[in-house]
Amino acid sequence: MTAASSGREAFGTRAGFILAAAGSAVGLGNMWRFSYQASEGGGAAFVLVYIAMTLALGIPLMLAEFGLGRRGQLGPIGTLRKLGGRAWGPVGYLFVAVGLLILAYYSVIAGWTVRYGIEAVAGGFARSAGDHFGAVASGGDAVAYHVAFMIATTLIVIGGVKGGIERASLLLMPMLFVIVIGLAIWAATLPGAAVGYRVYLQPEPSELMSPAVWRAAASQAFFSLSLGMGAMLTFASYLRRDQNLPESATIVAFTDFGVAFVAGLLVFPVIYSLGLQDAVSASTVGALFIALPSAFEAMGTVGRVVGLFFFIVLAVGALTSAISLLEVVTASVMDEFGMRRRTAALVMGTVITLLGVLPAMDTDALGLMDKIAGEFLLLAGALALALLAGWRIPSEVRAELLEGASPFWQRQVPRIVAVLRFLVPPIVAIVLFFSLRETIAAVSAYLAG
Ligand code: PHE
Repeated sequence: MTAASSGREAFGTRAGFILAAAGSAVGLGNMWRFSYQASEGGGAAFVLVYIAMTLALGIPLMLAEFGLGRRGQLGPIGTLRKLGGRAWGPVGYLFVAVGLLILAYYSVIAGWTVRYGIEAVAGGFARSAGDHFGAVASGGDAVAYHVAFMIATTLIVIGGVKGGIERASLLLMPMLFVIVIGLAIWAATLPGAAVGYRVYLQPEPSELMSPAVWRAAASQAFFSLSLGMGAMLTFASYLRRDQNLPESATIVAFTDFGVAFVAGLLVFPVIYSLGLQDAVSASTVGALFIALPSAFEAMGTVGRVVGLFFFIVLAVGALTSAISLLEVVTASVMDEFGMRRRTAALVMGTVITLLGVLPAMDTDALGLMDKIAGEFLLLAGALALALLAGWRIPSEVRAELLEGASPFWQRQVPRIVAVLRFLVPPIVAIVLFFSLRETIAAVSAYLAG
């Protein structure tokens, strides 16, 4: 039975699926989280390990999600139960919970980007950037922008796979690529650009073996590729059998990495040409939002125009990622409770909006939620998916990945499955252990005030 004849919604075009998956991947993770994890994880060393993780673990895991999703033709709860057996149902519920938690704080940060974008046009960025960030990032204003962003996200998801998600991605993603490249070219003309490039691109060899760097890099690779909570799985469940899955996953991963990398070519020169590195290495969730607006403001009118485009990119990237998070939750509720799309999206959108009030009031809570859901639970989910695809049903996953793949990619499929069996689980398990320790420490620090 094909997706179409089953009555399940489906993407209309191959490019639509790829851009929707790339839209899920490219988001705040590429800039906000990338820069703050890079500063926690030692700059260029982090970037190097992050690339290795994306290629060695990220692409195979994305293929696990693509294969499971297209095979299952349901959201994560239904697909895991159908393919893995009853015991896997709870893992699907975990994915939905992770989606709720991530979107709750993700939408708050997205709200900050909208707010800064508006400021670029109306009057410019404030001079006392740190104080101003405090006002933007918490309290009533932050709640209001978060609510507005959730409304936009919910409306697109109500529009459905083809009329909402695919249409938004086909329109927004090309625009995002053009702006990011334009901004990076502009940054190359700044006086201090070379120093910024050097910090960004020259790794400190001693840091390459540090567990902290590995943890930050693995967590960033999964977060940025939207892996470990069923977002890619859900999108693939709307596919017909003719999509070349291995090729699609490779394109999506390189696009995501490309945008993160090019964004770094913008962020680092801007920060170093204005001597703002201390604001960033203070390493808080707000680093990017404190350093960059003050840089833009110092550059006068040009800075405001650049700043406007920069925040448009962030908001657009955030929107296409947010719709994938809400889609995971919506699809599962539709499958499980037989709800209509509109009702499911409205109910779950409202729940997430309410959950987001906490991180909108308290940036420490936001950082903690990112640690628990954006790092620890995604790693745990990635491990579960690798075990399911690589050990529980490897021959089904292999058969699914072969279907629609060109001969070149068909030859890679056995390797991909072998990586899922032997390479991904041990590495993720080790990183998960370090992440657990860190997460426990972070939770107790938060509770101690
Ligand atoms: N990948 C998105 C980003 O980089 C975030 C995301 C994580 C989206 C998990 C969906 C699932 O911004």
